[in-house]
Amino acid sequence: METDPKFFDTPGGVVGQPLDRVDGREKVTGKARYSAEFPLPGLLYAVLATSPIAKGRVLSIDAAVATREPGVVAVLTHLNMPRLARTPNTPEAKKDTSAPMMFMPLTTDEIFYANQPVALVLADTWERAKHAATLLDVKYQAAAPVAAYTHPKAELFDPLAVQDGKQPGHTSRGDAQAAMASAPVKLSGTFTHPVYHHNPMETGSTTAHWEAPDRLTVYESTQGVTRTQTSLSKMLGLPREQVRVVTKYLGGGFGCKGSCWPHTVLTVQAAKAVGRPVKLMLTRQQQFTSMGHREDQTQTLALGASRDGKLLSLIHRKTSTTSPWDNYAEPNSRVINLLYACPNFEAKYDMARANVMTSTFTRAPGEAPGSFAIETLLDDLAHELNLDPLEIRLRNYADKDYSVDKPWSSKSLKQCYARGAELIGWSKRNPRPGATRDGRYLLGLGMATATYPVHNSQGTARVRLYADGHAVVQSGATDLGTGTYTVMTQVAADALGLPPDKVRFELGDTTLPTAPNSGGSVAAGTVSSSIFMAVQDVWAKLIKQAAADKKSPLFQAKAEDVEVVKGRLQLKKSPAKGENFAELMNRAQLTDVEGLAQGKYGAGYETGLAASPADSGHKDDKAGHSMHSFGAHFCEVRVDQELGIARVTRWVSVIGAGRILNAKTARSQIIGGAVFGIGSVLMEETIRDQRYARYTNADLAGYHIPVNADIPDMTVEFVEEKDPYINAMGVKGIGEISTVGVAAAVANAIFNATGKRVRSLPITPEKLM
Ligand code: MOS
Repeated sequence: METDPKFFDTPGGVVGQPLDRVDGREKVTGKARYSAEFPLPGLLYAVLATSPIAKGRVLSIDAAVATREPGVVAVLTHLNMPRLARTPNTPEAKKDTSAPMMFMPLTTDEIFYANQPVALVLADTWERAKHAATLLDVKYQAAAPVAAYTHPKAELFDPLAVQDGKQPGHTSRGDAQAAMASAPVKLSGTFTHPVYHHNPMETGSTTAHWEAPDRLTVYESTQGVTRTQTSLSKMLGLPREQVRVVTKYLGGGFGCKGSCWPHTVLTVQAAKAVGRPVKLMLTRQQQFTSMGHREDQTQTLALGASRDGKLLSLIHRKTSTTSPWDNYAEPNSRVINLLYACPNFEAKYDMARANVMTSTFTRAPGEAPGSFAIETLLDDLAHELNLDPLEIRLRNYADKDYSVDKPWSSKSLKQCYARGAELIGWSKRNPRPGATRDGRYLLGLGMATATYPVHNSQGTARVRLYADGHAVVQSGATDLGTGTYTVMTQVAADALGLPPDKVRFELGDTTLPTAPNSGGSVAAGTVSSSIFMAVQDVWAKLIKQAAADKKSPLFQAKAEDVEVVKGRLQLKKSPAKGENFAELMNRAQLTDVEGLAQGKYGAGYETGLAASPADSGHKDDKAGHSMHSFGAHFCEVRVDQELGIARVTRWVSVIGAGRILNAKTARSQIIGGAVFGIGSVLMEETIRDQRYARYTNADLAGYHIPVNADIPDMTVEFVEEKDPYINAMGVKGIGEISTVGVAAAVANAIFNATGKRVRSLPITPEKLM
C-alpha cells in the first residue's frame, strides 16, 4: 500500500483520508481467499438437488444410478442425513440457534417451498456431483401451493396474535383516526413491492472441515462469524469454542449472509457423514431459494395535513407474504413514524402464509420500502398544495424524534437538503409535471429524504503494539467488500501514530475478539470504536509503565497529566517532557504491549465520555437521544415517451452520518446503495408464478440489475458532523442510509417528468407508456 506522509503528519490525519484499499492488490490479483477457495486435502464437492414442487411430499428417492457414477461418494437425503442435536423447528429452538427459518430441509419428507433441498450429492469434482444430482429419481406427491399473500387461497392474519407484540404488529401514537377524520387535506396511496433478491456477486458458500469428531472449522460466506458460530454450535450440540468460523473475504451480502441458512448446516452435516471436508457453493439459481429474499408486500399510507402542508396524521398498513412457519416482515412503519414532525401515527401489519422460504433482512429492511411510501406521498402532497417538495419537507422538519419523543443526538438534514439542492440545480426545476422536454425525452427532477438508525451494538478489539513500531489489530468482524479492512487500518494507525503500512488488521475469524454481524450498518462504528479504545488501553498501560520507570521523563507522572501524540507519551502541560513508546518499551525489554477494549453504542466521542447520557437502546428511556444518520438524494431522470424507458441521468447524495472514516470507500458505499435503490425502482423484481409458487426468473438473465450503462456519474458529499453520543469514534455507519429514499427520489423525478405517479414497483416501461 502506498502511504502518503501527509495522512499521518497530524493526529487524526489518517482517519477520513481516501486511502486505497489495503486489500485491493490481493483482490485484483486473485490472492484473496473467499470461502469456497480453501483447497483442503480430500475435499469433496457438494451439489444440492432441489424440489420442483412447492408443496407436497417426497414419496421416494432412488439414488442407485447417481451413486454408481464415477467419483460420487454419497447421496444424502432426509433418510440418511445425520440428525442435528437441535433442529430449529420450534420457536424456542429457532431463537436458541439464531436460525433465520423455523425449518430445516432433509429432516422430513414434507415439501414446503419450491427448490427446497431434497438431497445433497457429494463427489470428487463439482462437475461429477452436479451431473449425479440430475440422475436422482425423486418421486413426489404434489399439492396445490399458496404462492403469495395475493393468492386466492391466501389467508391473512394479524401476526400480533402469535408474536407477543413484537414487530411486526401495531404501533400507535396520538389519535391517528380522529386526526385523519378532521384533516383539511387527505391523501393516500397503495404501494406494491415485488420480491427482491440480494444477489451478491459471491453466492452463498460453505467449506466444512471436521478436524476431529468434535472440532469443526467452517469457511463460510457470512456477514457474521460469531452468529454463524452460535447457530452451528447450538445445532450441533458442541461447545462454542469447538466450532471455528472463518470469513476472510466476502463478495457482498446485503443481508442474505446475515444468518446461518440451511445449506450451511447441511454441508457441515454432510462433511460429518462422510468424514471428509466438503464444499458447497450455491449456483446463482439456487441463491434465489436458499438465503431469503425481501418479501413481496403492499403498503397503504394515508396522510392528513393542514392546508399549509403540515402533517396531522399518518396511517400505515402493510400486508406481506411469509413462510409456512415464521412471522417475518420488515418493519416499514419505523421510518414513516419518525421521519417528520407528525403528532398522530398508526400502523398495522398483516401477513399470509405461502409456500416460500422465510424472507429476511435486505439492505435497509423496513426503511427502504417504508421510505418509498412516505417520500412519494409527501411529493403528492407538495403537488396537491402547489408547494415545492423541499419546502414541504422543511415545513414538516422533525426537530426531535417524535416516534419516541427524544432529541436527536445530531441531525444535519437541513444542510443535506441545501447542499443537494445546490448541486442538482433544484431552483431550476419546473414544478409542472410533463413540462420539460428535450427532444423525445421528458425530463424531471426528484428528491427524497434518507435516514437510518444507529443500532445498539457492541464489539471487541485487540491491539498488539510492538516496540519495533508495527502493530497487529484484531476483531472478528467481517468486510462485506465495502472497506472494513481499510478503514480499521486507518483508525488503528491514527490512534497509534503509525503509518498505515505498519498496521495489519485481521478480521473474519471466531478465534479473534468478538464483533457483531456486519449488518444494520453497525460494523464501522462499533469496530472502529473498539479499536480506538483498545489503543487507549495500550497507552494506559504504557503510561503506567513510564510513571514507574525511574529512567523515563514521565517518572511519577499522573496518568491524567499525560497525553499521547503520534506515539509519543508526554506531559500535557509541557509536551517537551516525554518519550516515544519505543524508547520506553525497549528500556523495559517489552517486545509488545496488548490492549483490549469494547466499543459500545452510546459511549461518547473522543474520551469515551459524552456530555450527557446517550440512548440506552430501550424504547422507554426518555433521558437519552435518538441516533440516526440523515441525508437527501436528488436526481434527474429522462423518460423516453415512446418506449416508456426511464433513465437516471444525474445523481446527487448528501449524507450526514457522523465521522466518515475514509472518503473514498464511503463514497463508493453511497454510490453502491444508490445503485441498489435504482435497481429496485426501475428493474429488479423476482416473479413468483401464482400456480406453482416457483420463481420464473431466478438468474441474472431474468433478474435485471443496473449495469454501468444504466448509471450516470454520481455526486456524493458528506456533511461534517460531530456527534458526541454515538460511540467513541462518532461514526454512525453508511451501509444502509445509502439506499433509503433512493426509489422515491427516482419515482418523484419520473412524476415530475411525466405526471405519472407509479406506486407499483419496479417502474418498468409498460407502466410509463
Ligand atoms: Mo444488512 S440488511 O444490515 O445485513
